[in-house]
Amino acid sequence: MDPLNWSLVAEAGCILAEVQRAADAADRFFPLSLGSEGTCQIGGNLSTNAGGTNVVRYGMMRDQVLGLEVVLPDGRVLSTLTSLRKDNTGYDIKSLFLGAEGTLGVITAASLKLYPKIRSSATAFVAVPDVRTAVQLLAELRDASGDCVSSFELIPRIGVELTTTHIEGVTDPLDEPYPWYVLCELTSSRLVDTLDSVLEGVLTRAMERNLVLDAAIAQSERERESFWKLRETIPEAQRLDGASLKHDVSVPIAVLPQFVERASAWVAEHVPEGRLVAYGHVGDGNLHFNLNQSPDADRDAFLAREAETKRAIHDLVQEFGGSFSAEHGIGRLKVTELERYAPAVELELMRAVKRAFDPHGIMNPGKLLRAGTV
Ligand code: LAC
Ligand code: ZN
Repeated sequence: MDPLNWSLVAEAGCILAEVQRAADAADRFFPLSLGSEGTCQIGGNLSTNAGGTNVVRYGMMRDQVLGLEVVLPDGRVLSTLTSLRKDNTGYDIKSLFLGAEGTLGVITAASLKLYPKIRSSATAFVAVPDVRTAVQLLAELRDASGDCVSSFELIPRIGVELTTTHIEGVTDPLDEPYPWYVLCELTSSRLVDTLDSVLEGVLTRAMERNLVLDAAIAQSERERESFWKLRETIPEAQRLDGASLKHDVSVPIAVLPQFVERASAWVAEHVPEGRLVAYGHVGDGNLHFNLNQSPDADRDAFLAREAETKRAIHDLVQEFGGSFSAEHGIGRLKVTELERYAPAVELELMRAVKRAFDPHGIMNPGKLLRAGTV
């Protein structure tokens, strides 16, 4: 821990929540936050370039890294565990290991950035009529709060229904059902801050223009946690509800509403056995554009739509200038998608990097790049 340098060094087995706690104990803040933070490890966060719910303000895992220690496939150790903010000395080699999914080497330690400790926050669960309004509301909140928005998550009505049905202790924060919701959080390092009133002011003015239909501002830490529990247990509730088809897509935020409109229309027309569960990090233009098997549908008939659905959604993402894997990486599941959508020159360079770092192909073979194509 090096508070005056605003950095710490963590080793690969370290749990993300431990890093957050260590930062907090030193009056600092480590921003990466995701549903699995109590169990996931920093090494994995680095190798997958994890995203989560604070990206809109702080960026992804890649953006938190100052230096790395990596064991290379031939046993050499790359030791660039620096904590320098500025080091403009040629290729940014460490960056290649972030999001490489263990295909280039094993990250054993990282020097990570810290930020001022969060001392006040305001959290709201907000009902909005549509995705367009959510995007508009984000712009107004960023503006009015002096860029204090640290989370801005979109939740569809079905997300509330699935979690209140399947997850113990989750309740609908609002009295009436609404088509879409935003879970937004403002945070600041200032102790005496007026975030609640900023949030309330923006929401009230938005309500007068029918941009916001209803809203609940968390009145206690417990209430805040219950809003977050609803959001973070959507994937689990989806699993408990039945089979699902998942897509982790991003498009430029400004065109997210059009994308959702077109993709939803396609799903409604072509996948009668499924229902849409599109939720996620709208502040990053990233939606988990998932489908769940309808209650009365046949599981196999629904799952038989997988290839066709994936192609239609990913082609549409491409048309909108987006990504078929916003934060979940490639692994084995999306190797074919990478081959299809990555520019040819980029794929060539990726294969060249793989050959340079791992000439014998011993690191996580078959992940990210198809074995035999390198
Ligand atoms: C989430 C995971 C699925 O956002 O990325 O809940
Ligand atoms: Zn996510």
